[in-house]
Amino acid sequence: MFDCHRFDRGAAAAVRRPAARRRGSWLPATLVPVVVFVLCGGLAAPLPAANVAATPQDDLVWITVGADVFEAAARRLAPPPGLSGGVVLEAFDRHEEVVLTRLPLAAIDALSGIVHADFRRCGGFVKHESLAEAEAEMARLRAPRLAPDVLPFAIDQPTLVGTLAGEVSEAELLSTITALSAFTNRYHAHPSGSASATWIRDQWVGLAAGRPDVTVEFFDHGTNTPQDSVILTIPGSTLPAEIVVLGGHQDSTRSGCLSDPNCIAPGADDDASGIAVLSEVIRLALAHGLRPQRTVQFMAYAAEEVGLDGSTDIAEFYSNTGKNVVAVLQMDMTGYQGSAQDIVLINDWTNSELNAFVADLISTYQPGMVQSTTLCGYACSDHAPWHTRGYRAAFPFESTFDQSSPYIHSSSDTVANLSNGAAHAAKFARLAAAFLVETAIDGPEVPAMPFLDGFETADTSAWSRVFP
Ligand code: BES
Ligand code: ZN
Repeated sequence: MFDCHRFDRGAAAAVRRPAARRRGSWLPATLVPVVVFVLCGGLAAPLPAANVAATPQDDLVWITVGADVFEAAARRLAPPPGLSGGVVLEAFDRHEEVVLTRLPLAAIDALSGIVHADFRRCGGFVKHESLAEAEAEMARLRAPRLAPDVLPFAIDQPTLVGTLAGEVSEAELLSTITALSAFTNRYHAHPSGSASATWIRDQWVGLAAGRPDVTVEFFDHGTNTPQDSVILTIPGSTLPAEIVVLGGHQDSTRSGCLSDPNCIAPGADDDASGIAVLSEVIRLALAHGLRPQRTVQFMAYAAEEVGLDGSTDIAEFYSNTGKNVVAVLQMDMTGYQGSAQDIVLINDWTNSELNAFVADLISTYQPGMVQSTTLCGYACSDHAPWHTRGYRAAFPFESTFDQSSPYIHSSSDTVANLSNGAAHAAKFARLAAAFLVETAIDGPEVPAMPFLDGFETADTSAWSRVFP
């Protein structure tokens, strides 16, 4: 089964955008049209009788799209020989496998249909609100990489990783997934999407009890979305300006009923399973009094399902304010094992050196796991806004792209449809615990210490890394 989803990113999205984002847009703000942006349709929609030349400027949208999709769309949308109608797609810019083009709004449905039918994926292109935004995205993709990228951390903390990973609890994971999927929905614009954000905030506040240095905050996205992101921060002891981010999206969505606040969208796999992993790692880290050298931030992003809104806002803010994020781990869909592999690394919109590091974490700490790589083919989750702003991101995923959960974005994305409760998610929680420790604490290793006062080790410089 391969099903996709439709959402209305229209009037609401237009008014949610702050004025600053629209500055420089060729779309007058007052004329932003209502767009039914189809992430995935069934069959290719009938070709609209629209062409670029005849379409008013205001009804044209700029998109960046994979070169494979661009070529297929250019072929499939072209006017039939000798007939009018159809769309002539022009490549305005191209960098490696990404093409900048524009097309009439009316042709977005048809493009989604082509992505769905020919490439069996959803999305497949990123819609930009202006030419300026599209060009900024291309510039980011084109920015020269500092090669080779030398990671500032290494795998050298087996004792602490062993302790945390060894205590990952499937029951805890399942309890978080169950609670989150019990919300009617976690749609960013509905009241229950705000209630679920508050629930996550309160859970994390509870986990941080007894650690006054740990903060839990809402990140307010202003007019972008009423849903706040939630950020838990464990301040770094010796390298506080270097930040490690572990994130996942808190919102859920469902094809077809989003105008209804009572729409049932449990989002158990997508992405309660990612938030559960974050909560479990927070629980374990704080239960063991973790004092990382680098600052660690856990982020439950708002409004991912409507275009990566929460993570884009945060990554943009971090970039604009010069924050030094050294590594980002994305947890989106950890609960459904659709392929023989246990953990599959998404290889696009991610950092290859960090991917190699995560692959090493898996083979070092979970040697029995089968791992491989896959491609999303588009900016499919919250790792992408970090990546395009030059931050290292990695995205370990539940299966190959094609074999991921068929239930997402439907009322069937339930706990019952996960693979063996939280057994699959537990692999990701062990990996995330290893990632946290190995990115945020540098060697030499702190010897195992049975008492919290730390006096059992001669290495006094190491005390603050782990113990209060
Ligand atoms: N969890 C999905 C992304 C995903 C789905 C990754 C299937 C790999 C396989 C995410 O929540 C999502 O739905 N993303 C959107 C794109 C986004 C830009 C709105 C999608 O894939 O349609
Ligand atoms: Zn998702």
